[in-house]
Amino acid sequence: MSERGGFASRLGIILATAGSAVGLGNVWRFPFMAGQNGGAAFIVIYIGCILLLGIPGMLSEFVIGRHSQANAARAYGHIAGGKRIWKLVGYLGILTSTIILGFYAVVAGWCLQYLLASLMGSLNGDADYVLNYFQTFATNPWKPCLWAVAFIVITHVVIVRGVQHGIERASKVLMPLLFVLLIVIVGASCSLPGAMAGVEFLLRPDFSNVSHSVLLEALGQAFFSLSLGTACLCTYASYFSRDTNLLKSASQIALIDTMIAIMAGLMIFPAAFSVGVQPDSGPSLIFITLPNVFQQAFGSMPTVGYLIGILFYALLVFAALTSTISMHEIGTAFFTEEFHLPRKKAAWVLTSVCSVLAILCSLSMGAVDSIALFGRSLLDCCDFITAQVMLPLGAFLTSLFVGWFVDQRLLRKELLTGVDGYDGTNDESFNHANWHYAWLFRIYQFAVRFIVPLCILLIFLHQFNVI
Ligand code: PHE
Repeated sequence: MSERGGFASRLGIILATAGSAVGLGNVWRFPFMAGQNGGAAFIVIYIGCILLLGIPGMLSEFVIGRHSQANAARAYGHIAGGKRIWKLVGYLGILTSTIILGFYAVVAGWCLQYLLASLMGSLNGDADYVLNYFQTFATNPWKPCLWAVAFIVITHVVIVRGVQHGIERASKVLMPLLFVLLIVIVGASCSLPGAMAGVEFLLRPDFSNVSHSVLLEALGQAFFSLSLGTACLCTYASYFSRDTNLLKSASQIALIDTMIAIMAGLMIFPAAFSVGVQPDSGPSLIFITLPNVFQQAFGSMPTVGYLIGILFYALLVFAALTSTISMHEIGTAFFTEEFHLPRKKAAWVLTSVCSVLAILCSLSMGAVDSIALFGRSLLDCCDFITAQVMLPLGAFLTSLFVGWFVDQRLLRKELLTGVDGYDGTNDESFNHANWHYAWLFRIYQFAVRFIVPLCILLIFLHQFNVI
């Protein structure tokens, strides 16, 4: 098997793409973003961003990747007919995913610690104890750094050893299990006293309290959660087969991803309101809320609460791993193919860079106050710059590129290849026979030419008070 093909089986690649999308972005980042931005109103805007900008954006990256069958930088250059300038968009995506991996690993490391702590039963105590536990742990100079680096090394091992076949098979069981477990925890959380205030917070939109930055935050969250704008979808799509139906895959992944995020919200807020945790507590939100659910909601059945806690953190670690693998793969594929490095060496380059960044991000959470930028911890800063600047910028440029610079016949052909058995040849007769796909293409084309770039531009201008 060639070095390229060695990454994943063609069959499991769709599963891997869904695995990339579903991760801490849904369970950790979505609730704290919704909490900081007014709850239900944020969710309405978020869903709008997914439908209007997210799905067309995913399709664009899919088209570029599958057409070119190469790493992100080469893929953009290839589909642009060799115009090197577009390679820069690929480079931007690779840089973005490397930074994301740096701070994402810190939070994934916290999940590892919580998995261990729930195994040992050391998260048991009242709400103050749970809060204190997190603060003491996150500000410790060593432990969170070690966990973060451990997480990157685990990702590295998976990338180098190519055990994705196992991971893909495991995803088939573990992802649905995560879904079922979320439903159980939503039920438990809603049964706590005073939980309905949290449900209301999530389901009754109040646009009067929406801050001016909420549009950009919802947009950034939508892109982060779909892994959009990082060239990740483009890299994964380069392993898709010709019979993959891109339209269907993008909509299914967006639907699953959004459902999991909303369920995570329904799991966190009822419990947060019940135990008195502020919804705008930021990145610590799920860590200072959930241990209370596992103890209080299952008060009469402590063993059940204990087991559900362990299972939850284990599944969260797994979901985070399928996402970090995708981030790592973007850079590894790039270094392997562009610098002709063996895959192992390329992976080491990425692992080293991300580990240094992860250590700095981890220390900036309190152990070393001087690691801060613009008054924020480095972790916050990396999160802000990637989600609210680099991802929207990547998606903006990709959309302009696909809408205005890529040969539109090629675009239509690539988008529809795999739909209803169409194999990319004789597109006139296909479009004639399946006129609704021709219409779908026109809608998509309108979205990538006008809606996506204009909306992102307007949101940026609004954020910087130009309009
Ligand atoms: N989408 C992933 C999540 O929700 C995060 C991610 C971002 C993965 C960018 C790859 C690239 O957790």
